[in-house]
Amino acid sequence: MRIDENHQLEQYFFDRPTIDMLADVLVQVDEPCCLCVPMVARELNARGRAVTLLEADKRFADIPGFTEYDLYRPRSVERRFDLILCDPPFNRVLLSQLFTAIRVLARGSFAQPLLLAWPADRASDLIGTFAPFGLRATGVVAGYRSVKDIPENRIELFTNMSWSGPS
Ligand SMILES: C[S@@+](CC[C@H](N)C(=O)[O-])C[C@H]1O[C@@H](n2cnc3c(N)ncnc32)[C@H](O)[C@@H]1O
Repeated sequence: MRIDENHQLEQYFFDRPTIDMLADVLVQVDEPCCLCVPMVARELNARGRAVTLLEADKRFADIPGFTEYDLYRPRSVERRFDLILCDPPFNRVLLSQLFTAIRVLARGSFAQPLLLAWPADRASDLIGTFAPFGLRATGVVAGYRSVKDIPENRIELFTNMSWSGPS
């Protein structure tokens, strides 16, 4: 069943090449977490891989590994993740809220591997807030189904891993 974007939730789905690129990264680990990234969780599932999906939108409850989750009221889950991928509702969430949620999910470990999508024009704010995790810009831009590809809308991927895009 096709699910339409819910813009009330700041829900913007990745385009197919971006879903595939990110799924290619997450399949390499045993315990991936998709925080606010239902499309990549669905793709991993289609590839027969287990994934934890933490997401507010219950329309994705059919994806195995779905847990209803509120970024603004973060709680830990009974798992240590090998990689947390997050594409947050970036116009609404405060960086301090995002940092708290990810720190909780990382169980306080700043060595937690992360891959985050965030507006390129606010990169320094993200990198500053997430300094304990050692985030850096990858230069890789995420593509979306319905977001116009103009400089103001540029969403970049940030990580503390060695990944710098598809090889
Ligand atoms: C920018 S979209 C990311 C979607 C992603 N690009 C994808 O293709 O799967 C933000 C996501 O955050 C979810 N979301 C919005 N508010 C949330 C909240 N308070 N807690 C958890 N998830 C939330 C939305 O439902 C949406 O799926």
